[in-house]
Amino acid sequence: MIVVVEGKRRREMDAAELAERMSSAGTSRVVIDVGTGDGRFAYAYASAHPDAFVVGVDAIAERLEELSAKAARKPAKGGRPNVVFVRATVEDLPSELTGVADEVHVLLPWGALLVGAMLAEAPVMAGIAGLAKPGAEVVVVFNAEVWEDSTPKDMADLPAVTVDCVRSWLAPRYAAFGLDVLDAHELSPDEVGALSTTWARKLAHGRHPKFVHLRARRAPPRPPAP
Ligand SMILES: C[S@@+](CC[C@H](N)C(=O)[O-])C[C@H]1O[C@@H](n2cnc3c(N)ncnc32)[C@H](O)[C@@H]1O
Repeated sequence: MIVVVEGKRRREMDAAELAERMSSAGTSRVVIDVGTGDGRFAYAYASAHPDAFVVGVDAIAERLEELSAKAARKPAKGGRPNVVFVRATVEDLPSELTGVADEVHVLLPWGALLVGAMLAEAPVMAGIAGLAKPGAEVVVVFNAEVWEDSTPKDMADLPAVTVDCVRSWLAPRYAAFGLDVLDAHELSPDEVGALSTTWARKLAHGRHPKFVHLRARRAPPRPPAP
């Protein structure tokens, strides 16, 4: 069952209600933002793309309260019927979201989400890949600056994220989860600032901002062995 955040309220949403929300919003394209934080990216994406149905997912519900309350209002007051906010960890996502996404975003992850995405560890990778339809695009934006000075102890031994390490080390590991890495490049601070997330805005003004953008495609299911 999906746990939806609507302001201070938490309630359950089943697959039928999710399908009904999608069809009444008149949308066929589903975009999921994993580790959405305060939901700014999900809300902005839903505003800019009324043709998309957006699901913002985060482990911490409290930060979702403000924008989820706004999204539940009438459209003239900031309401966005084409976005929902869900409390869930990437390691334990509701089954209703399995294979529904045309696009998955993981923007400036931190904590368990960062470690799992950086080291391509199950169950984080299985969670991310499991959301995507075959052919769906998966975008991960890493903050490579975290390794410089303010890194928490439990992340201090992680290797630095670089374009080379994504291409040579991470890409084959993502492929093992059915995600074919198509491209990896550094983003300029301006491009990060344009991502419309709260952390992007904060980090784009850091001392040595450095961000790596990874784009992957969910491979079609393998045909059964003859
Ligand atoms: C640095 S914040 C970035 C938030 C947002 N994407 C942004 O750019 O503003 C990282 C987010 O990842 C979430 N997160 C960390 N581990 C997670 C997990 N295992 N499952 C779901 N969300 C997680 C945190 O709760 C936090 O909101």
